[in-house]
Amino acid sequence: MAFAMTAAFPVAASGQPQAQAHVDNPFEGASSYVNPDYSENVQTSIDRTDSPELRERMRTVQSYPTAVWLDRIAAIEGGEDNGGRLGLREHLDEALAQKGSGPITASFVIYDLPGRDCAALASNGELPLTQEGLRRYKNDYIDAITEVFQDPKYDDVRIVTVIEPDGLPNLVTNLDDPECAEAKSSGIQVEAVQYALDRFHEIPNVYTYMDFAHSGWLGWNNNLTDSVGLYTDVVRETEGGFASVDGFAINTANYTPTEEPFLNDPYGRVGGQQIRSSQFYEWNPNFDETDFAADLHSEFVARGWPSDIGTIIDTGRNGWGGPERPTRESSSNDLDTYVNESKVDRRAHRGLWCNASGAGMGQPPRANPSVSADAHLDAFVWIKPPGESDGSSEEIPNNEGKSPDPMCDPDYVAPEAGNNPTGALPDSPLAGHWFHDQFTMLVENAHPTVGSSDVNTNVGSSGDQG
Ligand code: BGC
Repeated sequence: MAFAMTAAFPVAASGQPQAQAHVDNPFEGASSYVNPDYSENVQTSIDRTDSPELRERMRTVQSYPTAVWLDRIAAIEGGEDNGGRLGLREHLDEALAQKGSGPITASFVIYDLPGRDCAALASNGELPLTQEGLRRYKNDYIDAITEVFQDPKYDDVRIVTVIEPDGLPNLVTNLDDPECAEAKSSGIQVEAVQYALDRFHEIPNVYTYMDFAHSGWLGWNNNLTDSVGLYTDVVRETEGGFASVDGFAINTANYTPTEEPFLNDPYGRVGGQQIRSSQFYEWNPNFDETDFAADLHSEFVARGWPSDIGTIIDTGRNGWGGPERPTRESSSNDLDTYVNESKVDRRAHRGLWCNASGAGMGQPPRANPSVSADAHLDAFVWIKPPGESDGSSEEIPNNEGKSPDPMCDPDYVAPEAGNNPTGALPDSPLAGHWFHDQFTMLVENAHPTVGSSDVNTNVGSSGDQG
């Protein structure tokens, strides 16, 4: 698509287009890019759905912005080598075409680390954990993306990046896994992340949010302290230092609620025991993403980070509505019964990450959600496009580096998740591939209901509609 310079485009005295200033919160006052590839996937589900009511909700979801995952080198060029999806330039051209008179964000997930997904199998990527893998990451992946991002044609798009989901978090808590241990000791993944931050920092209209897992992973005090320490060391050594990071992305592709409306005090007691000591929370005091965001903000600021760092929450699949959703706090005196009857997160264990059954879409994407000032939230975003699978349990031939993962097998009882069955939906396709049954379930169990104006109903007491 050709670029037409419009009167709205700022032109400096030199006649050259003027780059947009780098703002604190790119989502504020901006519209967001709707990915036509996602809309097409949703359309296939609409075409398979009989209920007019459900179809209508699906059509609403079709109009929502979701992030584009640059999950392999071939995703930059797009086309035949990437399942017919749009390439990066086509996405940005389309974002310009969608842009009205105000600013627009377009969000991309940077996801191709050498030795990717070291603690699991579902999303192992194309680049090996070797110096050659690192060289290709820099030259063929990050440099190629940077070249597109810095094209002046796109100066007017606020390009939001989410940097390497699960990458650094795996280097904090999964070091008993030999692949993650090597990812850490080789220094390869840290160097890769620093390289990405350095290249993107050169471009004023690019915004970087570092993935920071979710409260069910890094929420314990020791994990939080260790992670903040690692991120601080990693970022301090980049060319732009703390200025090369705009904030953190939490709950990417996960199911942890934005708020547990009936469990407000982790240190409160039931049957004489602290609520956080229940089986489900395993002493982790962070029950939801809002509290987690607040904790990580204060930890980072205490380490010298600027106080304007913000957090975005992936709310695509953390709504937990539907018939199983509790409507009130339990009155049981038995702690585990109390927690199980009160929590909206219906999983048996917080480590269950693959195609969780019973899940629903969460808050629709929007800027500056008025949940809690302490959380410093820049936006709710749908980073993992709801309806794209987390992984398969069967061997499915592919050239994406993906393997069957027992965590995606409903019959697997997971020692790594408290010896619970995984709760994964059956018959799932490869990670990233369209999963109609999951999409339908997520729409049915959405909370708030898709299309309802009551968008703040799962965030406790805050009444502002934002
Ligand atoms: C997959 C990616 C996919 C992404 C979004 C990840 O789990 O590995 O290939 O693009 O999910 O669905």
